Amino acid sequence: MSGQPLENTGRKPDSPRPDNPAILYRQATDADIDAIAAMELVCFPEEPWSRDMVAAEFSGINPSRYYVAVDGGQICGYAGIWLIPPEGYITNVAVHPDRRRLGIGGKLLEKLMAGGLAEGVSEFTLEVRVSNDPAIALYRAYGFEEAGVRKRYYQDGEDALIMWAHAASEESPQPADTEQL
Ligand SMILES: CC(C)(COP(=O)(O)OP(=O)(O)OC[C@H]1O[C@@H](n2cnc3c(N)ncnc32)[C@H](O)[C@@H]1OP(=O)(O)O)[C@@H](O)C(=O)NCCC(=O)NCCS
Repeated sequence: MSGQPLENTGRKPDSPRPDNPAILYRQATDADIDAIAAMELVCFPEEPWSRDMVAAEFSGINPSRYYVAVDGGQICGYAGIWLIPPEGYITNVAVHPDRRRLGIGGKLLEKLMAGGLAEGVSEFTLEVRVSNDPAIALYRAYGFEEAGVRKRYYQDGEDALIMWAHAASEESPQPADTEQL
């Protein structure tokens, strides 16, 4: 593991991007399973999760929490985490191709991390394809750093980069600072 402590769960860009008020963020429910499974096909055509795999995340088997971004009633992004304090394992972040570079992926990651911090998570980890430059750039922007490689992690033989972000406990948000999730 490596990495600098996160000062908070938000990115610190040079020029903060204003939130798009048309896009709503909320915790996902069973009713979102079909929409998330459909997004899997669009966002991960090489190795999408099946509907059953998505449904398993909502079955209570795993300590999962998912968020969705909703634009005009349509889900345009989602992200998930397994809450295993003090660790949070980020399972997925995905945004519809037509809605990328609008700050949605970053906002979803903020939701995951703020929710994790509120549950006692202080270290976040994930795997990402070594070729996935957009996702690696997103995670770096939120304080994740490379900590190793899992050889041939994906079915097609591609390696996974292991990334970690660490939040210093004294910097965890207090309840008054924690956004309504
Ligand atoms: C990775 C992904 C979720 C990013 O979502 P997004 O909504 O486009 O990301 P954001 O607009 O919030 O980007 C936030 C920051 O991440 C970085 N970033 C995101 N996409 C990038 C790209 N294509 N190239 C370079 N940097 C990028 C930038 O720093 C960006 O900030 P900026 O736009 O102010 O420069 C999206 O590309 C996606 O769904 N990809 C397919 C699914 C996937 O691979 N998910 C990751 C699995 S591990």
